Amino acid sequence: MPRALSLALLAPLLLLAASVGTVEGAQRRQQRRRRQVEVGSGPTSEQIWDTGLMETKLSHVSMLERGREYYDDTTVRRFKGFVLGYVTPWNRGGYMNAVTFRHKLDAVAPVWFQIKMPEGQAAPTITGTHEINQTWISELREGGRGPLVVPRFVIEAEVPQHVAMVQNPRAVLEAVRKVVTENNFDGMVLETWVAWQSFNGLSNDMFKKAAMQLVSGLAEAMHSSGGKKFFLAVPPLLPATEKSPWLARQDFLDLAPHVDGFSVMTYDHNTATGRPGANCPLPWLQANIKHMEKGPKRSKEPPLPEAVRPRVLLGANFYGWDFAPSRGGLAAVTVSDLVPLLQKHQPELRWDEGVEEHTFQYQDKEGHVHHVWYPTPRSLEARLQVARDAGVGISVWELGQGLERFFDLL
Ligand SMILES: *[C@@H]1O[C@H](CO)[C@@H](O)[C@H](O)[C@H]1NC(C)=O
Repeated sequence: MPRALSLALLAPLLLLAASVGTVEGAQRRQQRRRRQVEVGSGPTSEQIWDTGLMETKLSHVSMLERGREYYDDTTVRRFKGFVLGYVTPWNRGGYMNAVTFRHKLDAVAPVWFQIKMPEGQAAPTITGTHEINQTWISELREGGRGPLVVPRFVIEAEVPQHVAMVQNPRAVLEAVRKVVTENNFDGMVLETWVAWQSFNGLSNDMFKKAAMQLVSGLAEAMHSSGGKKFFLAVPPLLPATEKSPWLARQDFLDLAPHVDGFSVMTYDHNTATGRPGANCPLPWLQANIKHMEKGPKRSKEPPLPEAVRPRVLLGANFYGWDFAPSRGGLAAVTVSDLVPLLQKHQPELRWDEGVEEHTFQYQDKEGHVHHVWYPTPRSLEARLQVARDAGVGISVWELGQGLERFFDLL
């Protein structure tokens, strides 16, 4: 029975072959895993200064091993200026960081509400109320020392509805005030200035006058509701690419007496052109501060009142951008995008002295070169120092998009 014999002989051989295969496979997998840097996370007794993360010469290994850890005493505050931090409903990490690092934050703005004006309706509607999470708010406020909760309201409307709203500010004030007081929020952030500017509303004197009245009216509505706070999101005074500013310095000065904080969008410097570059070049940030303080060079504009300084909250991006110019690509990078990029491509991080940010490159499967500009502890610290020197605060977009180590610096 040669056939049966050969089969009997073969069976153990096959088995052996199969087992060798799995052992080798497991070894290979293990080697690959060993080559992949393990990502650290959670609290540690090591201060950020001892991790190598503050250096200009920064390796992807340090970023992976130490970047997502944080110093275990989260009650220590290093940055004394006002800190506003946004959280977005589509990023659970931001909600968690807001609670973990609440002693380092003066205000948290969950991006929850839209102000809309359905056609044929006299009063606006506020949408987004399903996002309200009172459990999370009570975690933030636990012990009574938590940050202010000041949700962001964005006006989402076509031009005619924008006009209708500024013409009937009372209806907007009442709708917003109702949501803020009924939910026991500490105030609000209004986001609409860029929209008003983008359809040239603010270059029309009548529209602008009404718009300014809507802003000051909302601020007054907050202040008169038990001293709630009013924050306004605004573009930087010196734009990145446009010739004329999206917020005139005089308008900024006129708004200042009403506003408890300006959330200034000093980031996305290169997204309009798509050319790879820093998110917030340091010289641009400094020029913005100079302009805010004194106006254009050799102008006779009034100086910035000292009382306004602490209410200026320079935007600090906790996210980055991935530029792939050869295919016209541009994508936002958050920490959860960054980690796999660093693991896969093991890129060399380069410090750009001129703009004071790190950057790295990698090549995708189709051969396109990507340029990534993502903040690092060193670049964030440089911007915090600018804010310190100017006596202003910061506004973080957003709390779940960065390395946890960023909070060690706040
Ligand atoms: C509300 O917040 C709590 C505490 O942070 C969280 O555990 C819960 O999942 C949140 N609920 C929703 C619906 O997101």
